[in-house]
Amino acid sequence: MKRGIIITCMYLCCFTEMILIAQNTKLTLDFKKTGVNVSSNLYGLMTEEINHSYDGGLYAELIKNRVFKDDPKVPVSWKVYDEIGGNASIQLDYSQPINNLLPVCLKLDVKNSGTRVGIINEGYWGIPITPKTTYKASFYVKADEVDTVSLTVSIESNDGAIIYTSAQVPLIIGSWKKYELELNTSANIIPTSLAHFVISTIHKGTYRFNLISLFPPTYNNRSNGNRPDLMRLLAEMKPTFLRFPGGNYLEGDYFSTRYQWKKTLGPLENRPGHQGCWEYRSSDGMGLLEFLEWCEDLNVEPVLGVNAGYALKGDYIEAGPFLKPFVDDALEEIEYVTGDSQTKWGDLRAKDGHPKPFKIKYVEIGNEDGFDQSGSYDKRFTQFYDAIRAKYPNLQIISTAGGKDVAGSMTPVCTRKPDVIDEHYYRNSLEMQEDACHYDNYDRNGPKIFVGEWATIEGEPTTNLSAALGDAAWMTGMERNSDLVIMSCYAPLFVNINTGAYQCKCNLIGYDAKYSYGSPSYYAQKMFSNYLGDKVVPVVGENISVQTMAEKKSDGASITTPKQMPTLFYVATQNTTTGNVYIKMVNTSGTSQTITLDLKGAGRISPHATIFVLRGDKLEETNSISEPEKIIPKKESINNASNVFCVTLKPYSINVLQMEIKK
Ligand code: AHR
Repeated sequence: MKRGIIITCMYLCCFTEMILIAQNTKLTLDFKKTGVNVSSNLYGLMTEEINHSYDGGLYAELIKNRVFKDDPKVPVSWKVYDEIGGNASIQLDYSQPINNLLPVCLKLDVKNSGTRVGIINEGYWGIPITPKTTYKASFYVKADEVDTVSLTVSIESNDGAIIYTSAQVPLIIGSWKKYELELNTSANIIPTSLAHFVISTIHKGTYRFNLISLFPPTYNNRSNGNRPDLMRLLAEMKPTFLRFPGGNYLEGDYFSTRYQWKKTLGPLENRPGHQGCWEYRSSDGMGLLEFLEWCEDLNVEPVLGVNAGYALKGDYIEAGPFLKPFVDDALEEIEYVTGDSQTKWGDLRAKDGHPKPFKIKYVEIGNEDGFDQSGSYDKRFTQFYDAIRAKYPNLQIISTAGGKDVAGSMTPVCTRKPDVIDEHYYRNSLEMQEDACHYDNYDRNGPKIFVGEWATIEGEPTTNLSAALGDAAWMTGMERNSDLVIMSCYAPLFVNINTGAYQCKCNLIGYDAKYSYGSPSYYAQKMFSNYLGDKVVPVVGENISVQTMAEKKSDGASITTPKQMPTLFYVATQNTTTGNVYIKMVNTSGTSQTITLDLKGAGRISPHATIFVLRGDKLEETNSISEPEKIIPKKESINNASNVFCVTLKPYSINVLQMEIKK
């Protein structure tokens, strides 16, 4: 969704429900009919800097506003530490840059020696403290007219009562110098995020600071790396690709604030950061190489979005000579990612620490360029397409003119037929269920489809069971049509759940400084991507129960004509190597349903099967920091599976039945 639409896309409504339970509901799986192939890239991840996804999220840096650029006038997130008061002051200082990319520093003036003074950083809604942990701190200092030879670096409780860890740093007076140190916590501390970071002294003088950084342990111990708990949640989804860097974040509100990959490379000293489009600045600590290493750590393919000469507030570059620098920039970016060290940009990547080229299959031109009212996208796309195809003939080129929430095949008129077209859907649960057959009759002669952003938007800050049911119904449709829908990814992926930290209300994975959890939608996705075959098995449903649904405003007035909706959504796939069959069934009603399964032509079936069930009692039920596993899949055994047998699906449940077919 575009910014500004976000607030209004929340529904102040509920749905009435009158369930007509059918007798003899039956699903017939026809193993004699050839089903379509399931795309090996069907389930992936989409990401951008929104909701403090990276800064204050996945990117493990703990210091907020580390280069003091978040506000040009005030050192936000920093405060002075002054035990007695009146002895110290802090302010931004532009007089002594450490380089021209980091022109502002934090100046601490200390009047008298003798009492403890310093600077405090609040972190991203706290600094998480855990026992037996090594934190890596680093910073630049220039100390003038001081009568000390050291500084103290510590992590302390917010009330100052507990010093969790502390170390001394010897000082060299008179010029900028970078200091690096380790801070270790003991085994007996109680984990908390009610803590802050302090650099202090008891000596008078003028101290200037810049690029102050603090890292806890990271996933795979990467320097400048990622939060392990969030990486583990992602890994467990078994994604196959990562779409980055956006989303709107790729485009920026204006050209001057777009994501510029060249400014995100190399040491942190070389990264100026930039104003993001989601209300806050980005440190660009999560730079292009970090995105690629994130892919490497998850063993997923990068799906690279390139800026296509369009900014969110409507500025655009006409195709032709003025667009050429953008096209060249994209070609260079692809070379940085894929080139060997004989190439200019591949060589730079090697020098940045990653000699081995990354493999990519897909490059995406822009983001939601269906919103471009100027009508310039077709020509812009053509210019990008021709240049990329000429230099990288094997790359699949994705168009972003696919639109958002459109009700039918939207293939726009294109001068060059894209290999793939990206379509986005943000809807409530009822709408997702209603449109679960969206792709059943789609144009098979057009480009392949990438559902590059989609979500059922119910629940805040992470989605609830109702949303998960909508998601699961929608996923049955994508999976059934996976010959056409070759890739899909949910958005937004991440949310820092603190007040003021997020811009989008409904998100997949929530966290604060210390804890993280998956929403019911997260578990629905995990079930769908973990249990997936390589061929769709055609299924025919009979006597499917329906419910009458009318959308109601909170004042009780009906705002849609009541509709009859199915209460069962389903898809089946088979792993043709192992023979395993995965039957996904979503019961969206508040009543249990008994289904007869008829596996026609399947051969000998093992009586031992497994069913994974994600369910709850009420649609609003959800997971949270305090109850992270309220709604999670439970595994049950079935011992009477056969070619024709019955399963009972619990109310409000998402089910994956895994069956073994004997060869
Ligand atoms: O997911 C949030 C935003 O929704 C994305 O940045 C944008 O592409 C879409 O409109």
